[in-house]
Amino acid sequence: MPNLADLENTKEADSEDLHHAPGYSARYLSRPVPKFELPPHSMPPEVAYQVCRDELNLDGNPTLNLASFVTTWMEPQAQQLIDESLNKNLIDRDEYPQTQKIERRCINMLARLYHAPKNENATGTSTVGSSEAIMLAGLSHKWKWREQRKKKGLDIERPNMVLGANTQVVWHKFARYFDVEERILPLTTNRFTLDPDQVAEAVDENTILVAPILGQTFTGELDPIEEINSKLLQIKKKKGLDIPIHVDAASGGFVIPFTRPSLKWDFRLEQVRSINTSGHKFGLVYPGLGWAIWRDQEDLPEELIFDINYLGGKMSTFTLNFSQGASNVIAQYYNFIRLGKEGYRNIMDNLLENARYLSSELEKTGKFEIVSKQNTIPIVVAKLKDTSECDVFDISHLLRTRGWIVPAYTMPPAAESIAVLRIVVRESFTRDLADILMEDIKEAIGILAKTDRKRTYILGESNVC
Ligand SMILES: Cc1ncc(COP(=O)(O)O)c(C=O)c1O
Repeated sequence: MPNLADLENTKEADSEDLHHAPGYSARYLSRPVPKFELPPHSMPPEVAYQVCRDELNLDGNPTLNLASFVTTWMEPQAQQLIDESLNKNLIDRDEYPQTQKIERRCINMLARLYHAPKNENATGTSTVGSSEAIMLAGLSHKWKWREQRKKKGLDIERPNMVLGANTQVVWHKFARYFDVEERILPLTTNRFTLDPDQVAEAVDENTILVAPILGQTFTGELDPIEEINSKLLQIKKKKGLDIPIHVDAASGGFVIPFTRPSLKWDFRLEQVRSINTSGHKFGLVYPGLGWAIWRDQEDLPEELIFDINYLGGKMSTFTLNFSQGASNVIAQYYNFIRLGKEGYRNIMDNLLENARYLSSELEKTGKFEIVSKQNTIPIVVAKLKDTSECDVFDISHLLRTRGWIVPAYTMPPAAESIAVLRIVVRESFTRDLADILMEDIKEAIGILAKTDRKRTYILGESNVC
Protein backbone atom coordinates (compact mmCIF):
# COMPACT_ATOMS: atom_id res chain seq x y z
CA MET A 1 0.00 0.00 0.00
CA PRO A 2 1.45 3.45 -0.80
CA ASN A 3 2.23 5.48 2.23
CA LEU A 4 0.71 8.81 3.15
CA ALA A 5 3.22 11.10 1.58
CA ASP A 6 3.52 9.08 -1.65
CA LEU A 7 -0.07 10.01 -2.33
CA GLU A 8 0.71 13.71 -2.33
CA ASN A 9 0.71 15.43 -5.72
CA THR A 10 -1.27 12.59 -7.31
CA LYS A 11 -4.49 13.20 -9.18
CA GLU A 12 -6.34 11.82 -6.23
CA ALA A 13 -4.70 14.40 -4.01
CA ASP A 14 -5.29 17.18 -6.51
CA SER A 15 -8.96 16.42 -6.58
CA GLU A 16 -9.24 16.87 -2.84
CA ASP A 17 -8.54 20.07 -0.99
CA LEU A 18 -6.13 18.64 1.53
CA HIS A 19 -6.11 21.78 3.61
CA HIS A 20 -9.84 21.59 4.12
CA ALA A 21 -10.12 17.80 4.36
CA PRO A 22 -13.21 16.93 6.36
CA GLY A 23 -13.24 14.67 9.37
CA TYR A 24 -10.44 13.13 11.29
CA SER A 25 -7.44 13.54 8.94
CA ALA A 26 -9.70 12.41 6.08
CA ARG A 27 -8.28 9.70 3.80
CA TYR A 28 -4.92 9.72 5.59
CA LEU A 29 -6.54 7.60 8.27
CA SER A 30 -6.49 4.49 6.12
CA ARG A 31 -2.87 4.75 4.91
CA PRO A 32 0.36 3.64 6.60
CA VAL A 33 2.63 6.47 7.79
CA PRO A 34 6.31 6.82 6.71
CA LYS A 35 8.53 4.89 9.08
CA PHE A 36 11.87 4.20 7.43
CA GLU A 37 12.31 6.50 4.44
CA LEU A 38 12.04 10.24 4.60
CA PRO A 39 8.86 10.80 2.57
CA PRO A 40 9.41 12.39 -0.83
CA HIS A 41 6.51 14.81 -0.42
CA SER A 42 4.83 16.88 2.25
CA MET A 43 1.58 16.49 4.14
CA PRO A 44 -0.72 19.09 5.70
CA PRO A 45 0.37 20.22 9.16
CA GLU A 46 -2.86 19.21 10.87
CA VAL A 47 -2.45 15.67 9.58
CA ALA A 48 1.21 15.41 10.61
CA TYR A 49 0.20 16.72 14.03
CA GLN A 50 -2.63 14.22 14.36
CA VAL A 51 -0.42 11.30 13.33
CA CYS A 52 2.28 12.20 15.88
CA ARG A 53 -0.22 12.98 18.60
CA ASP A 54 -2.15 9.76 18.17
CA GLU A 55 1.01 7.67 18.32
CA LEU A 56 2.23 9.47 21.41
CA ASN A 57 -0.96 8.46 23.20
CA LEU A 58 0.67 5.03 23.43
CA ASP A 59 3.38 6.40 25.72
CA GLY A 60 2.95 6.17 29.46
CA ASN A 61 1.23 9.04 31.23
CA PRO A 62 3.98 11.27 32.73
CA THR A 63 1.95 11.92 35.90
CA LEU A 64 1.68 8.18 36.54
CA ASN A 65 5.35 7.63 35.71
CA LEU A 66 6.63 7.09 39.24
CA ALA A 67 9.92 5.73 37.91
CA SER A 68 11.27 9.08 36.88
CA PHE A 69 12.96 11.75 38.97
CA VAL A 70 12.40 14.22 36.19
CA THR A 71 9.85 17.02 36.42
CA THR A 72 6.50 16.37 34.74
CA TRP A 73 4.62 19.48 35.82
CA MET A 74 5.43 23.19 35.87
CA GLU A 75 3.30 26.24 36.52
CA PRO A 76 1.55 27.80 33.49
CA GLN A 77 3.65 30.96 33.77
CA ALA A 78 6.84 28.89 33.58
CA GLN A 79 5.39 27.01 30.65
CA GLN A 80 4.67 30.33 28.95
CA LEU A 81 8.24 31.53 29.43
CA ILE A 82 9.46 28.22 28.02
CA ASP A 83 7.21 28.57 24.98
CA GLU A 84 8.39 32.13 24.44
CA SER A 85 12.09 31.18 24.54
CA LEU A 86 12.10 27.81 22.79
CA ASN A 87 13.74 29.42 19.78
CA LYS A 88 16.76 30.72 21.70
CA ASN A 89 20.08 28.92 21.68
CA LEU A 90 21.87 29.43 24.98
CA ILE A 91 25.27 29.42 23.30
CA ASP A 92 24.40 32.55 21.30
CA ARG A 93 25.53 34.61 24.23
CA ASP A 94 26.31 37.72 22.27
CA GLU A 95 22.86 37.67 20.68
CA TYR A 96 21.00 36.88 23.89
CA PRO A 97 23.00 38.71 26.54
CA GLN A 98 20.15 38.89 29.02
CA THR A 99 19.68 35.12 28.89
CA GLN A 100 23.35 34.75 29.65
CA LYS A 101 22.96 37.06 32.66
CA ILE A 102 20.07 34.92 33.83
CA GLU A 103 22.21 31.79 33.56
CA ARG A 104 24.95 33.52 35.57
CA ARG A 105 22.41 34.49 38.22
CA CYS A 106 21.31 30.86 38.56
CA ILE A 107 24.96 29.74 38.90
CA ASN A 108 25.59 32.37 41.57
CA MET A 109 22.46 31.44 43.48
CA LEU A 110 23.37 27.74 43.47
CA ALA A 111 27.00 28.41 44.43
CA ARG A 112 25.81 30.44 47.42
CA LEU A 113 23.20 27.84 48.33
CA TYR A 114 26.08 25.36 48.41
CA HIS A 115 28.23 27.73 50.50
CA ALA A 116 30.94 28.40 47.92
CA PRO A 117 33.38 30.99 49.23
CA LYS A 118 31.85 34.41 48.53
CA ASN A 119 32.83 35.50 45.08
CA GLU A 120 31.03 37.99 42.86
CA ASN A 121 31.20 35.63 39.93
CA ALA A 122 30.79 32.00 40.96
CA THR A 123 32.31 29.27 38.79
CA GLY A 124 29.87 26.96 37.07
CA THR A 125 27.77 26.24 34.03
CA SER A 126 24.40 24.95 33.00
CA THR A 127 24.39 21.62 31.20
CA VAL A 128 21.82 19.32 29.63
CA GLY A 129 21.71 17.26 32.82
CA SER A 130 23.77 15.95 35.70
CA SER A 131 25.51 13.53 33.35
CA GLU A 132 27.15 16.31 31.35
CA ALA A 133 27.93 18.17 34.58
CA ILE A 134 29.66 15.06 35.97
CA MET A 135 31.72 14.61 32.80
CA LEU A 136 32.88 18.24 33.05
CA ALA A 137 33.68 18.06 36.74
CA GLY A 138 35.44 14.71 36.29
CA LEU A 139 37.55 16.18 33.51
CA SER A 140 38.45 19.21 35.60
CA HIS A 141 39.76 16.93 38.37
CA LYS A 142 41.64 14.74 35.91
CA TRP A 143 43.28 17.84 34.43
CA LYS A 144 44.18 19.28 37.86
CA TRP A 145 45.65 15.97 38.99
CA ARG A 146 47.70 15.69 35.78
CA GLU A 147 48.91 19.27 36.03
CA GLN A 148 50.11 18.77 39.60
CA ARG A 149 51.82 15.45 38.82
CA LYS A 150 53.50 16.85 35.70
CA LYS A 151 54.96 19.72 37.70
CA LYS A 152 56.57 17.19 40.03
CA GLY A 153 57.74 14.99 37.13
CA LEU A 154 55.50 12.11 38.27
CA ASP A 155 53.77 9.42 36.24
CA ILE A 156 50.38 10.46 34.78
CA GLU A 157 49.36 7.20 33.15
CA ARG A 158 47.00 5.67 35.71
CA PRO A 159 44.38 8.03 37.11
CA ASN A 160 41.69 6.43 39.25
CA MET A 161 38.55 7.50 41.06
CA VAL A 162 36.80 6.05 44.08
CA LEU A 163 33.05 5.44 44.08
CA GLY A 164 30.43 3.19 45.61
CA ALA A 165 28.61 0.37 43.85
CA ASN A 166 25.53 2.56 44.45
CA THR A 167 26.76 4.96 41.80
CA GLN A 168 24.74 6.03 38.75
CA VAL A 169 25.67 4.74 35.28
CA VAL A 170 27.09 8.12 34.20
CA TRP A 171 30.17 7.49 36.35
CA HIS A 172 30.93 4.25 34.49
CA LYS A 173 30.53 6.20 31.26
CA PHE A 174 32.93 8.88 32.45
CA ALA A 175 35.49 6.22 33.40
CA ARG A 176 35.28 4.55 30.00
CA TYR A 177 35.06 7.65 27.82
CA PHE A 178 37.89 9.45 29.60
CA ASP A 179 40.07 6.51 30.58
CA VAL A 180 39.97 6.64 34.34
CA GLU A 181 40.19 3.49 36.49
CA GLU A 182 37.10 2.94 38.64
CA ARG A 183 37.65 1.77 42.19
CA ILE A 184 34.17 0.65 43.10
CA LEU A 185 33.56 -0.03 46.77
CA PRO A 186 31.07 -2.81 47.45
CA LEU A 187 27.79 -2.54 49.31
CA THR A 188 26.45 -5.13 51.71
CA THR A 189 22.90 -6.43 52.16
CA ASN A 190 22.42 -4.01 55.05
CA ARG A 191 24.61 -1.06 54.01
CA PHE A 192 23.90 0.66 50.70
CA THR A 193 26.19 3.67 51.12
CA LEU A 194 29.93 4.33 50.97
CA ASP A 195 32.01 3.29 53.96
CA PRO A 196 34.50 6.11 54.83
CA ASP A 197 37.12 3.62 56.07
CA GLN A 198 37.00 1.77 52.76
CA VAL A 199 37.32 5.10 50.94
CA ALA A 200 40.46 5.91 52.94
CA GLU A 201 41.95 2.54 52.04
CA ALA A 202 41.10 2.84 48.34
CA VAL A 203 42.62 6.26 47.59
CA ASP A 204 46.21 6.81 46.57
CA GLU A 205 48.41 9.34 44.77
CA ASN A 206 46.61 8.60 41.47
CA THR A 207 43.11 9.28 42.79
CA ILE A 208 41.63 12.19 40.87
CA LEU A 209 38.45 12.33 42.97
CA VAL A 210 36.11 10.58 45.38
CA ALA A 211 32.45 10.70 44.33
CA PRO A 212 29.90 10.33 47.12
CA ILE A 213 26.22 10.74 46.30
CA LEU A 214 23.68 13.00 47.95
CA GLY A 215 20.51 11.01 47.37
CA GLN A 216 21.34 7.82 45.56
CA THR A 217 19.07 6.26 42.96
CA PHE A 218 18.66 2.87 44.66
CA THR A 219 17.51 3.87 48.16
CA GLY A 220 17.60 7.66 48.25
CA GLU A 221 20.27 7.57 50.96
CA LEU A 222 23.01 10.14 51.44
CA ASP A 223 26.60 8.95 51.47
CA PRO A 224 28.46 10.01 54.67
CA ILE A 225 30.17 12.98 53.00
CA GLU A 226 31.31 14.75 56.15
CA GLU A 227 33.00 11.57 57.42
CA ILE A 228 34.65 10.98 54.04
CA ASN A 229 35.89 14.58 54.12
CA SER A 230 37.43 13.97 57.58
CA LYS A 231 39.21 10.85 56.35
CA LEU A 232 40.63 12.73 53.35
CA LEU A 233 41.77 15.56 55.60
CA GLN A 234 43.66 13.06 57.75
CA ILE A 235 45.31 11.66 54.62
CA LYS A 236 46.19 15.18 53.48
CA LYS A 237 47.84 15.86 56.82
CA LYS A 238 49.69 12.57 57.03
CA LYS A 239 50.66 11.90 53.42
CA GLY A 240 50.34 15.29 51.73
CA LEU A 241 47.77 13.93 49.24
CA ASP A 242 45.10 16.52 48.45
CA ILE A 243 42.24 14.36 47.11
CA PRO A 244 39.12 16.28 46.01
CA ILE A 245 35.52 15.24 46.58
CA HIS A 246 32.99 15.72 43.82
CA VAL A 247 29.47 15.44 45.26
CA ASP A 248 26.93 13.88 42.93
CA ALA A 249 23.92 15.84 44.15
CA ALA A 250 21.79 15.07 41.08
CA SER A 251 18.70 14.62 43.25
CA GLY A 252 19.73 15.80 46.72
CA GLY A 253 21.13 19.14 45.57
CA PHE A 254 17.65 20.62 45.38
CA VAL A 255 16.25 18.87 48.47
CA ILE A 256 18.77 18.76 51.32
CA PRO A 257 19.68 22.50 51.34
CA PHE A 258 16.01 23.22 52.07
CA THR A 259 15.02 20.32 54.31
CA ARG A 260 18.26 19.87 56.28
CA PRO A 261 20.17 23.15 55.93
CA SER A 262 22.56 22.36 58.79
CA LEU A 263 23.79 19.09 57.25
CA LYS A 264 27.32 19.64 55.97
CA TRP A 265 27.82 18.01 52.60
CA ASP A 266 28.78 20.93 50.35
CA PHE A 267 31.55 23.54 50.05
CA ARG A 268 31.50 23.96 53.83
CA LEU A 269 33.67 20.83 53.71
CA GLU A 270 37.26 21.56 52.73
CA GLN A 271 37.74 18.72 50.24
CA VAL A 272 34.48 19.31 48.34
CA ARG A 273 35.62 21.03 45.14
CA SER A 274 32.73 20.49 42.78
CA ILE A 275 29.05 19.59 42.82
CA ASN A 276 26.53 18.61 40.16
CA THR A 277 22.79 18.81 40.41
CA SER A 278 19.86 18.25 38.05
CA GLY A 279 17.66 21.27 37.50
CA HIS A 280 15.22 18.88 35.84
CA LYS A 281 14.82 16.71 38.94
CA PHE A 282 13.96 18.43 42.21
CA GLY A 283 15.03 21.75 40.68
CA LEU A 284 11.47 21.42 39.29
CA VAL A 285 12.26 22.24 35.64
CA TYR A 286 11.35 20.13 32.60
CA PRO A 287 14.18 18.04 31.04
CA GLY A 288 17.05 18.60 30.21
CA LEU A 289 18.85 20.87 32.59
CA GLY A 290 21.77 20.27 34.90
CA TRP A 291 24.31 22.38 36.76
CA ALA A 292 28.01 22.00 37.47
CA ILE A 293 29.37 24.24 40.22
CA TRP A 294 33.02 24.52 41.29
CA ARG A 295 34.16 25.76 44.66
CA ASP A 296 36.46 28.32 43.11
CA GLN A 297 37.79 29.44 39.77
CA GLU A 298 41.09 27.71 40.43
CA ASP A 299 39.31 24.33 40.58
CA LEU A 300 38.45 24.61 36.89
CA PRO A 301 41.65 24.37 34.81
CA GLU A 302 41.90 27.10 32.17
CA GLU A 303 42.70 24.59 29.42
CA LEU A 304 39.10 23.34 29.63
CA ILE A 305 37.70 26.77 28.87
CA PHE A 306 37.44 27.72 25.22
CA ASP A 307 37.23 31.31 24.09
CA ILE A 308 35.36 31.81 20.85
CA ASN A 309 34.56 34.90 18.87
CA TYR A 310 32.69 33.69 15.80
CA LEU A 311 29.21 34.38 17.13
CA GLY A 312 30.12 38.03 17.52
CA GLY A 313 31.87 39.22 20.67
CA LYS A 314 34.33 37.17 22.72
CA MET A 315 32.93 34.52 25.01
CA SER A 316 34.03 31.53 27.04
CA THR A 317 32.50 28.10 26.86
CA PHE A 318 33.18 24.98 28.90
CA THR A 319 30.39 22.56 28.11
CA LEU A 320 30.62 19.31 26.16
CA ASN A 321 27.79 20.35 23.90
CA PHE A 322 27.86 23.62 22.02
CA SER A 323 24.18 24.40 21.38
CA GLN A 324 21.66 24.08 24.19
CA GLY A 325 18.09 25.28 24.61
CA ALA A 326 17.84 28.46 26.67
CA SER A 327 14.28 27.95 27.83
CA ASN A 328 15.03 25.58 30.70
CA VAL A 329 17.62 27.93 32.14
CA ILE A 330 15.03 30.70 32.02
CA ALA A 331 12.47 28.39 33.65
CA GLN A 332 14.99 27.60 36.39
CA TYR A 333 15.41 31.28 37.10
CA TYR A 334 11.62 31.66 37.15
CA ASN A 335 11.46 28.93 39.83
CA PHE A 336 14.26 30.56 41.81
CA ILE A 337 12.62 33.95 42.03
CA ARG A 338 9.06 32.62 42.19
CA LEU A 339 9.67 30.03 44.93
CA GLY A 340 12.68 31.29 46.81
CA LYS A 341 14.04 29.17 49.66
CA GLU A 342 10.65 29.24 51.34
CA GLY A 343 8.83 27.83 48.31
CA TYR A 344 11.36 25.07 47.67
CA ARG A 345 11.28 24.15 51.38
CA ASN A 346 7.47 23.92 51.39
CA ILE A 347 7.39 21.78 48.27
CA MET A 348 10.15 19.44 49.48
CA ASP A 349 8.48 19.12 52.91
CA ASN A 350 5.22 18.16 51.20
CA LEU A 351 6.97 15.60 49.02
CA LEU A 352 8.71 14.06 52.02
CA GLU A 353 5.40 14.02 53.90
CA ASN A 354 3.73 12.12 51.03
CA ALA A 355 6.71 9.74 50.84
CA ARG A 356 6.36 9.04 54.58
CA TYR A 357 2.62 8.50 54.17
CA LEU A 358 3.12 6.05 51.33
CA SER A 359 5.82 4.21 53.29
CA SER A 360 3.55 3.80 56.29
CA GLU A 361 0.63 2.64 54.13
CA LEU A 362 2.86 0.04 52.48
CA GLU A 363 4.05 -1.12 55.89
CA LYS A 364 0.47 -1.35 57.14
CA THR A 365 -0.30 -4.02 54.52
CA GLY A 366 2.09 -6.26 56.45
CA LYS A 367 3.61 -7.32 53.13
CA PHE A 368 6.38 -4.75 52.66
CA GLU A 369 9.54 -3.69 54.41
CA ILE A 370 10.70 -0.14 53.65
CA VAL A 371 14.29 0.07 52.45
CA SER A 372 14.47 3.84 51.81
CA LYS A 373 15.45 6.02 54.75
CA GLN A 374 13.28 8.92 55.81
CA ASN A 375 14.33 12.52 55.51
CA THR A 376 16.62 12.06 52.54
CA ILE A 377 15.09 12.55 49.10
CA PRO A 378 11.38 11.90 48.48
CA ILE A 379 11.42 8.35 47.20
CA VAL A 380 9.91 5.18 48.61
CA VAL A 381 11.80 1.94 48.14
CA ALA A 382 10.16 -1.22 49.46
CA LYS A 383 10.83 -4.94 49.35
CA LEU A 384 8.38 -7.79 49.89
CA LYS A 385 8.76 -9.70 53.14
CA ASP A 386 7.55 -12.91 51.53
CA THR A 387 7.92 -13.71 47.84
CA SER A 388 6.17 -17.08 47.81
CA GLU A 389 2.97 -15.67 46.30
CA CYS A 390 4.37 -12.90 44.08
CA ASP A 391 7.48 -10.81 43.67
CA VAL A 392 8.01 -7.09 43.07
CA PHE A 393 8.37 -7.68 39.31
CA ASP A 394 4.88 -9.24 39.19
CA ILE A 395 3.44 -6.25 41.06
CA SER A 396 5.21 -3.77 38.81
CA HIS A 397 3.82 -5.53 35.71
CA LEU A 398 0.28 -5.64 37.02
CA LEU A 399 0.36 -1.97 38.03
CA ARG A 400 1.35 -1.16 34.47
CA THR A 401 -2.01 -2.44 33.24
CA ARG A 402 -3.62 0.39 35.20
CA GLY A 403 -1.21 3.01 33.84
CA TRP A 404 1.16 3.22 36.84
CA ILE A 405 4.83 2.98 36.03
CA VAL A 406 6.53 1.70 39.17
CA PRO A 407 9.90 0.09 38.48
CA ALA A 408 11.11 -3.09 40.17
CA TYR A 409 14.83 -3.84 40.24
CA THR A 410 17.54 -5.66 42.12
CA MET A 411 20.09 -3.77 44.18
CA PRO A 412 23.68 -3.30 42.93
CA PRO A 413 26.45 -5.93 43.31
CA ALA A 414 26.83 -7.62 46.70
CA ALA A 415 23.24 -6.68 47.53
CA GLU A 416 21.61 -7.99 44.36
CA SER A 417 19.68 -10.65 46.29
CA ILE A 418 17.33 -7.81 47.30
CA ALA A 419 14.61 -6.83 44.83
CA VAL A 420 12.61 -3.65 45.40
CA LEU A 421 9.85 -1.43 44.07
CA ARG A 422 10.65 2.28 43.83
CA ILE A 423 8.29 5.22 43.78
CA VAL A 424 9.62 8.73 43.19
CA VAL A 425 7.34 11.25 44.87
CA ARG A 426 7.23 14.32 42.66
CA GLU A 427 5.14 17.46 42.88
CA SER A 428 2.35 15.96 40.77
CA PHE A 429 2.00 12.92 43.07
CA THR A 430 -0.76 14.08 45.39
CA ARG A 431 -2.11 12.35 48.49
CA ASP A 432 -5.16 11.41 46.42
CA LEU A 433 -2.98 9.61 43.86
CA ALA A 434 -1.04 7.95 46.70
CA ASP A 435 -4.31 6.53 48.04
CA ILE A 436 -5.37 5.26 44.62
CA LEU A 437 -1.94 3.70 44.07
CA MET A 438 -2.18 1.94 47.44
CA GLU A 439 -5.58 0.50 46.54
CA ASP A 440 -4.13 -0.75 43.26
CA ILE A 441 -1.09 -2.29 44.95
CA LYS A 442 -3.34 -4.14 47.40
CA GLU A 443 -5.55 -5.33 44.58
CA ALA A 444 -2.51 -6.48 42.58
CA ILE A 445 -1.20 -8.50 45.53
CA GLY A 446 -4.66 -10.05 45.98
CA ILE A 447 -4.88 -11.04 42.30
CA LEU A 448 -1.33 -12.40 42.19
CA ALA A 449 -1.96 -14.52 45.29
CA LYS A 450 -4.74 -16.29 43.40
CA THR A 451 -2.89 -16.86 40.09
CA ASP A 452 0.01 -19.05 39.07
CA ARG A 453 2.08 -15.90 38.60
CA LYS A 454 2.08 -15.68 34.82
CA ARG A 455 3.69 -12.37 34.31
CA THR A 456 2.00 -10.06 31.82
CA TYR A 457 4.57 -8.74 29.40
CA ILE A 458 4.45 -5.13 28.33
CA LEU A 459 3.35 -4.82 24.72
CA GLY A 460 5.18 -2.49 22.38
CA GLU A 461 8.66 -2.65 23.92
CA SER A 462 10.23 -4.82 21.25
CA ASN A 463 9.08 -2.92 18.16
CA VAL A 464 11.72 -0.70 16.60
CA CYS A 465 9.51 1.74 14.69
C1 LIG B 1 22.85 10.09 41.54
C2 LIG B 1 22.66 10.41 40.09
N1 LIG B 1 23.68 10.90 39.37
C3 LIG B 1 23.55 11.22 38.07
C4 LIG B 1 22.35 11.08 37.42
C5 LIG B 1 22.24 11.48 35.96
O1 LIG B 1 21.46 12.64 35.91
P1 LIG B 1 20.84 13.25 34.56
O2 LIG B 1 19.69 12.37 34.22
O3 LIG B 1 20.42 14.62 35.01
O4 LIG B 1 21.90 13.28 33.53
C6 LIG B 1 21.24 10.58 38.12
C7 LIG B 1 19.94 10.38 37.44
O5 LIG B 1 19.03 9.78 37.94
C8 LIG B 1 21.39 10.25 39.50
O6 LIG B 1 20.36 9.80 40.23
